[in-house]
Amino acid sequence: TTKIIFDTDPGIDDAMALLFAHYSPEIDVVGITTVLGNASLDTVTRNALHICERFDISAPVHKGAAAPLLIAADEPPAFVHGDDGLGNINPDTPSVQHESASAAQFIVDKVVQHPHEITLVAVGRLTNLALALRLNPEITQLVKEVVIMGGALGTNEHTGNVTPVAEANIYGDPHAADIVLTANWPLTLVGLDVTMTCVMQQAQMRHLRDSAGAAGQFIWDISRHYEDYYHRTRGVKGFPVHDSCAVAYVLAPELFQVRSGAIRVVTEGISIGQTIMVPGGRLFPPGDWHNVPESQGCVGVNADALLQLYESVL
Ligand code: BDR
Ligand code: CA
Repeated sequence: TTKIIFDTDPGIDDAMALLFAHYSPEIDVVGITTVLGNASLDTVTRNALHICERFDISAPVHKGAAAPLLIAADEPPAFVHGDDGLGNINPDTPSVQHESASAAQFIVDKVVQHPHEITLVAVGRLTNLALALRLNPEITQLVKEVVIMGGALGTNEHTGNVTPVAEANIYGDPHAADIVLTANWPLTLVGLDVTMTCVMQQAQMRHLRDSAGAAGQFIWDISRHYEDYYHRTRGVKGFPVHDSCAVAYVLAPELFQVRSGAIRVVTEGISIGQTIMVPGGRLFPPGDWHNVPESQGCVGVNADALLQLYESVL
């Protein structure tokens, strides 16, 4: 099994991805770290604890960043994820508490304790990972892998969802994202190029609701708001399962086509939050692109197989 730390801002698709990881026999969720994003830090942390309590997930929950590294925190997108971050189901206040150590400290400690065993799956803003790198840069050599839902590489029409060129998780803390994407560790970016093509349709949702027990019903309940948002704004029927794509990459990387290259993030101006990949092998003189380690970016996915995998795990 693969040990993962799930760094998240639940969030409807985050909640779906957490359940996907939890119910996958090949994944052991050893910790959950939270970051502001789809709702405030307190709200997303409450949501993570609620999901853990409701579905007997024993992983500790560590609270992370309440604001981006350098830019000001923005208003959470209640129009996408609801005021409560979970599609306005108004979850019970959990009776369990988050741990006292910060998300960044927990990430460092776990990675150091289990060298080459921990995969960081980050499906929110990258603030906690950047802070962990700042606490102990050696973790780059000690993680097994880093898998990130974020960004867009411009290989198809899905180039941005907050601006024409920026995806929400990267846009929310571009400075943190640039630190994480240019660190020298084995990293794969699962961006909009692939996640926007993994659209779960109503029929599959109904099937999950009717055959995947309490988790299936929960997923149905939280996703009504999300489905409506995508329908109203994009005319899509169904919705993309962004964060579950990162979990799917851990379980079945063969479902994805990847490209390697240096990836950086624009940190100012009208393109702020854009991810840019320079294909491997292209050499540049000293400057902003010099010595940026190569990462992988997903450029294609077998969406049907991915959605099928989600369904079979649940
Ligand atoms: C990402 O932004 C959030 O709204 C989702 O949870 C996902 O992580 C998609 O751009
Ligand atoms: Ca998310």
